[in-house]
Amino acid sequence: MESYSPIHRPRRMRVNQAIRQMVQENFFSLNDLIHPIFIEEGIEEAIPLKTLPGVLRYPESQLEAEVKELAALGIKYIMPFGISHHKDEAGSDTWNDDGLLARMIRTIRQAAPEMVIIPDICFCEYTSHGHCGVLCEHGTVDNDITIANLAKQAVTAARAGADMLAPSAMMDGQIAAIREALDEAGFSHVSILAHAIKFSSAFYGPFREAVNSELSGNRNAYQADYANGRQAMIEAELDEDEGADILMVKPGTPYLDLVARLRAQTNLPIAVYQVGGEYAAIKFAAQAGALDEKAVVKETLIGFKRAGADVIVTYYAKQIAEWLRDGEMDSLSR
Ligand code: PBG
Ligand code: ZN
Repeated sequence: MESYSPIHRPRRMRVNQAIRQMVQENFFSLNDLIHPIFIEEGIEEAIPLKTLPGVLRYPESQLEAEVKELAALGIKYIMPFGISHHKDEAGSDTWNDDGLLARMIRTIRQAAPEMVIIPDICFCEYTSHGHCGVLCEHGTVDNDITIANLAKQAVTAARAGADMLAPSAMMDGQIAAIREALDEAGFSHVSILAHAIKFSSAFYGPFREAVNSELSGNRNAYQADYANGRQAMIEAELDEDEGADILMVKPGTPYLDLVARLRAQTNLPIAVYQVGGEYAAIKFAAQAGALDEKAVVKETLIGFKRAGADVIVTYYAKQIAEWLRDGEMDSLSR
């Protein structure tokens, strides 16, 4: 048989595991992973989430024990989401110093003094209509009143002990409003992980169940349009100008083009949010025997890193910490 000898042979860098490890470009560790956690007030027992198998909604009474367990597993970053039983038109419980947001931050701080606490800053879990801010007459969210309220919520979260804030409402000018309010209130050291490019996405479906969302309709009038890449880049540029410390893209997997474009354009750290629908897609496929769960989780995380992300928010964080502890996953090699 005739054969042909190519000059370039990339396979030389893959001939065995030691060589592959020598040239491996991307890794992940618990230094990269933010653990989202759902806390509901007024309940006594943890509630398993049907759409996010393996994820629970915790009562406030179990939060301390759960956070201690996370800290012992090596989880360093936590993103609390509150499920409110005190909803109103504006989501005013979020700027009450004794409201759910402030209480859960204080409980986490007490349970794990070293844990970096990064609360979601938004209104949708605290409004009676489920939108991410105050509604105006024509039924859409009023931008400028909402950013004034976001500023109040941010200061309340900082006062309760948050280290970093993750505003997710997708209001124009929200980063500037929050930055200014934090600085004025003496919290210039509190950083902002901006949901810079948050798309209006059907991948949020499981999350809506997780937080008992009141929303009917959609968030197309404020979240980014997934058909538009340049428009998304404008969102990120504005957040950088307004003082964001980290820029996040959300969801993750279908939007790696934007992670890569951002990486080429900014020197800020980049985060990516592997959302509920991405988690559920892997989890249910694995339960059906169609995917090797740990291998696919690892592949998605390395994929985020390769695209340019420094930080990953994922509902798999706790399970990954357990797999690493038990030697069932090796984050350093393939
Ligand atoms: C709303 C919010 C959403 C998520 C977090 N905060 C999306 C939404 O309902 O529009 C989604 C997270 C996920 O899907 O995992 N501020
Ligand atoms: Zn919201």
